[in-house]
Amino acid sequence: MALGAPRRRRLRPVTRLTWRTAGESHGPTLIGILEGIPAGLSLDIERVNEDLARRQLGYGRGGRMRIETDRVGILSGWKGGVTIGSPIAFEVKNKDSVIEKLPTPTNPRPGHADLAGCQKWGHRDPRAVLERASARETAARVAAAGIVRQVLEAFGIEVFGYLTGLGGIDCRPDGWEAAGERRSEIRQASDFLSLDPEADEAMRQAVDAAKEAKDSLGGTFEVRAEGLPPGLGSCASAQERLTGRLGGALFSIPAIKGVEFGIGFDVAARRGSDVHDPIVPSGAPGNAFARTTNRSGGLEGGMTTGEPLLIRAAMKPIPSIRIGMPTVDLHTGEATVATYQRSDVTSVPACSVVGEAMVALVLAEAFLDKFGGDSMGQVGAALDHYRGELQSLGKPLD
Ligand SMILES: Cc1cc2nc3c(=O)[nH]c(=O)nc-3n(C[C@H](O)[C@H](O)[C@H](O)COP(=O)(O)O)c2cc1C
Repeated sequence: MALGAPRRRRLRPVTRLTWRTAGESHGPTLIGILEGIPAGLSLDIERVNEDLARRQLGYGRGGRMRIETDRVGILSGWKGGVTIGSPIAFEVKNKDSVIEKLPTPTNPRPGHADLAGCQKWGHRDPRAVLERASARETAARVAAAGIVRQVLEAFGIEVFGYLTGLGGIDCRPDGWEAAGERRSEIRQASDFLSLDPEADEAMRQAVDAAKEAKDSLGGTFEVRAEGLPPGLGSCASAQERLTGRLGGALFSIPAIKGVEFGIGFDVAARRGSDVHDPIVPSGAPGNAFARTTNRSGGLEGGMTTGEPLLIRAAMKPIPSIRIGMPTVDLHTGEATVATYQRSDVTSVPACSVVGEAMVALVLAEAFLDKFGGDSMGQVGAALDHYRGELQSLGKPLD
């Protein structure tokens, strides 16, 4: 570094796996670049397309979902369907590519990025902001996650998101346990991507009532990850704490206003003995330790404990509402009502898919940071070695 040159400050450590997206909501395409996927992974593109299709599901979605049928196209980084270790570029084309023909709104919509974005960039055209701020961008994240989850799954890690409540109606709290091995099937059959068919009917009525009232609804979802080894993430530096990375990833989704791990905000009202997870001898072969509870949600000290990861998030009701929110015209300064753009009544089911994607991306980063190699074989060897080390902990030294 030249003397006197400004030092580049890193907000977080450089991870082996990095990803980026580009593209506007009504532009020609969404683009993504994934770097750090090991060589030797057979990519099942139809699995990625299934994730993209799931992001478009949900009772209460608007007209856009009927226009778009998202599919991913891989542009680089594989040969013969197998990753080769180079960056994977991909695209998800927009069928609704009309950005240059759409009218210029003059009134910023409350609850959207419109006003803060116009102030930030000096635009008088909220479309210049909203086209990128739109949640359409999350289709590219879901595509990226559809690729990285295949790395995780190759090593026995499953990440699963599902809706847990909508418009004040809660799904049964034991939905996950009740669904058991049938969880994917039950979620796919649900109009809301929930694991509680009985709650679906009440939620359908709530959506119909909100639509009638020209309003919108928020809700909650849960993301679980199973099969994680202990020790992903780190307590060594603030930036490496997995709790912060996962929380940040979920808060990066438009409209997410709350994130909880394990028993979540309940920790504040309980005594310590009723919050922490006792460590007991396991008796299981190859693991000297077990937990009698998982109230932490699978994270301690910013690292995975080896118990299932359990995260919940709250999504606000979407801000484009037909009832019309008060706003001010950017050109005249006059009070007016926000223009209504074609919109959903609720997007919580779709958001649960995006939440699942963000968790998969962060877990894959942490997993490859710990076990990263250039090929799937090298990653597997590092994981096996670590598992061997884990077996000796809690046993007398020879
Ligand atoms: C999957 C998904 C779909 C969304 N669909 C809509 C929508 O149809 N209409 C809308 O007004 N907001 C929608 N939103 C929310 C807005 O994108 C979000 O509220 C806005 O960008 C402002 O961000 P903020 O709420 O984080 O401040 C959606 C969000 C997600 C994650």
